[in-house]
Amino acid sequence: MTSKKISTIKTIANIDMPQLIYGTAWKKERTADLVVQAVTLGFSAIDTACQPRHYREDLVGEALNHLFRQQNVSRENLFIQTKFTPIGGHNPQSIPYDPNAPLKEQVSQSFAMTRKNLGIPYVDSYVLHSPVEPLESLTEIWRAMEDVYNNGGSRQLGISNCYHLPILEYLWSMAKIKPAVVQNRFNSQTDYDRDLRIWCNKKGIRYQSFWTLTANPHILSSYIIGQCAERYEKTREQILFRYLTQKEITPLTGTCNEEHMIEDVEIFEFNLEENELHRIDELIE
Ligand SMILES: NC(=O)c1ccc[n+]([C@@H]2O[C@H](COP(=O)([O-])OP(=O)(O)OC[C@H]3O[C@@H](n4cnc5c(N)ncnc54)[C@H](OP(=O)(O)O)[C@@H]3O)[C@@H](O)[C@H]2O)c1
Repeated sequence: MTSKKISTIKTIANIDMPQLIYGTAWKKERTADLVVQAVTLGFSAIDTACQPRHYREDLVGEALNHLFRQQNVSRENLFIQTKFTPIGGHNPQSIPYDPNAPLKEQVSQSFAMTRKNLGIPYVDSYVLHSPVEPLESLTEIWRAMEDVYNNGGSRQLGISNCYHLPILEYLWSMAKIKPAVVQNRFNSQTDYDRDLRIWCNKKGIRYQSFWTLTANPHILSSYIIGQCAERYEKTREQILFRYLTQKEITPLTGTCNEEHMIEDVEIFEFNLEENELHRIDELIE
């Protein structure tokens, strides 16, 4: 177990959320081994989903069981995030709830499956995988997620794939338990969610990014990122991740490579200077 530490950032739910999250999509049967490896190398946050099409939430549970029982990792030192996936995000053959049940029931059945898969009574963050239409359905699902929260099943709620600010504004206004995080694809096609992120900052919603490396080869290959990489003796990927964390964006990484895991955790050992942050800002704004 490494002694390296990932910095945390407070959410509006008063949770210390690690500023780098290990994502478990598409890992199939390697999921358990990779989660154990990531935590052993210093990751303290895990992202999954009750969506068998892309995630093996049950194998995340297997990894947790191993970490708690064999490696003395304590539950309180891990941030565990999972998702409720509406019907449209599932393979029809592997929906983890009754698709004909009312939406409220779908959420409670899905969360019961999450508890069984993960083998823990509560998660730190429960995220709606994507907004649904019409707004009445969104409201019904969110109310059911609030029930999960109120029953102690999750310490905060969030939403993902929400690129349309009016939807987020609607959610914020109707929510009794406000969304604490937004998890979105971070790329130029959405202007890096510039307006949405400004709005999130005003409300105190934390922004998590995915596709961060894959969607941004032009940023990674830019002159300023290269200059910083040389100056700090880090990889270009480390510079981009460090930039984002200094801007209070929390990237997800799903690396399967041990060297990359080690490098990712090391980003908190240096700070980019203001003028470097500004120059990288220009690539994103
Ligand atoms: N909410 C959603 O709808 C949604 C959608 C997609 C993803 N996610 C979440 O986000 C997580 C991350 O997914 P992602 O799409 O961002 O991509 P990813 O799975 O992290 O893949 C990124 C690519 O970057 C490489 N990489 C990672 N760290 C690196 C490093 N330090 N240096 C060099 N290369 C590095 C990886 O290769 P190596 O394996 O060789 O390092 C991989 O090819 C997922 O596991 C999932 O939890 C959520």
